[in-house]
Amino acid sequence: MSIKPKLVDAINEQIATEFQSAYQYLAMSAWFTRSSLHGFAHWMQMQWQEEIAHAMKLFTFLHDRGGNVVLRGLDAPVAEYSSPQQCFEEVLRHEQQVTERIHALYELAQQERDLALQMVLQWYISEQVEEEAQVNEVLDRLRLVGTDGPAIFLLDRQLGERSASANQPQA
Ligand code: FEO
Repeated sequence: MSIKPKLVDAINEQIATEFQSAYQYLAMSAWFTRSSLHGFAHWMQMQWQEEIAHAMKLFTFLHDRGGNVVLRGLDAPVAEYSSPQQCFEEVLRHEQQVTERIHALYELAQQERDLALQMVLQWYISEQVEEEAQVNEVLDRLRLVGTDGPAIFLLDRQLGERSASANQPQA
């Protein structure tokens, strides 16, 4: 069953959102590297990779359904942060917005009775729960340690151990 043009547009919009997320996390990684917090920088690069995989899963899906992938321009990401905590507050805010977009896309897929798209988006809905939980966990720790340098360096070491998520899609 061919995909409706309205859904093609909405999926292309979501592909752009995922690439924009990747771009933002890459900028955050650069900021952490400049701040000599290489574990945080590594965490952000893992996040960058995940976002690329999220974009590519929809990219492949759209092609499989006979829709045209049309890539959109990206905005320059924010490059400077006042602290690791402020940076992670931004990550959480961003992920909450992404969750809202995924939910809106799912509702559109329901309205248009596109079952295949609903199936694919169910994966994204649970992935967003995991993403927000991961960010909240780091943020809780950052709020706890405040500006305590040794505690931030310890957290930096822990975040440097993050490996690629087992829950990543095959693009
Ligand atoms: Fe692809 Fe972090 O949402």
